[in-house]
Amino acid sequence: MKKYLVIGNPIDHSLSPKLHNFWLKKNNIEAIYERKKIFESDLNDLILEVKREKISGINVTVPFKRTAISFLDELTSEADKTKSVNTIYLRDKKIIGHNTDIEGFEKSVKFQEFNLKNQKILILGAGGVVPSIIFALLKMGVQKITVSNRTTEKALDLKKLFKDIDIVDWGKEIEFDMVINATSLGLQKNDKINLEFLKEKKNKFFYDIIYNPIETQFLKRAKELGNKVENGKMMFIHQAAAAFKIWHNIEPEINEELIEYLLND
Ligand code: ATR
Repeated sequence: MKKYLVIGNPIDHSLSPKLHNFWLKKNNIEAIYERKKIFESDLNDLILEVKREKISGINVTVPFKRTAISFLDELTSEADKTKSVNTIYLRDKKIIGHNTDIEGFEKSVKFQEFNLKNQKILILGAGGVVPSIIFALLKMGVQKITVSNRTTEKALDLKKLFKDIDIVDWGKEIEFDMVINATSLGLQKNDKINLEFLKEKKNKFFYDIIYNPIETQFLKRAKELGNKVENGKMMFIHQAAAAFKIWHNIEPEINEELIEYLLND
């Protein structure tokens, strides 16, 4: 039986096995998708298992999306430009690394029917997923991207990948049409983002990468003020669907039944 894995550390919280196994079953594919907690020293051997065809595909999550790169034969242009790999597969005996977080983000924004063309975007945070978000935003034709991170040096590192972004100090007030929370603030139920200027906004788009909890304080407050809001659920589902398509050449169905099943358990 074909075997697929999601690797990371920590990995217990990952909903990827639940999602992929649901689609495998729906599509009558004889395969299994498992999670595996690993350490950096395990990466090389594990990725080689793809070359040996012992493992048919790997999803990579925090904190290995960048470090995995050195063990691959080739990167797609998306993975190369973001220096981030979340999907690994074998093509013509070469281990390829790709990034489906970009497609996940893009599709989740389109799902909200929000046109980003010429919009001003503020990103809070500079963690692992931010290069993918920036890549997708540029592709969608935004006017300006500003990154604000508690540790400014980490935001400045992003400028090495994307020279046209602006970096501002954490707490500085910025004009925006859309704000994205890409920090880990919100993972704990009572986490609050203490940026005063966010609290006066109306008719903007507030997007949180977090999907568990389903509504962070950031989104709750924004919704009360009449803003459009979206959590990270559709991004997560669409990045998984894109990986599924690569591995099985089938576009898996995304519907209410799936969303219910995934998040209510
Ligand atoms: P990942 O790679 O999983 O995204 P990460 O690199 O730890 O995780 O990123 C978490 C993000 O949340 C970072 O941008 C972090 O800011 P720092 O770079 O300054 O650490 C941000 N973050 C975490 N706790 C925060 C807090 N209390 N206030 C503001 N930002 C915070």
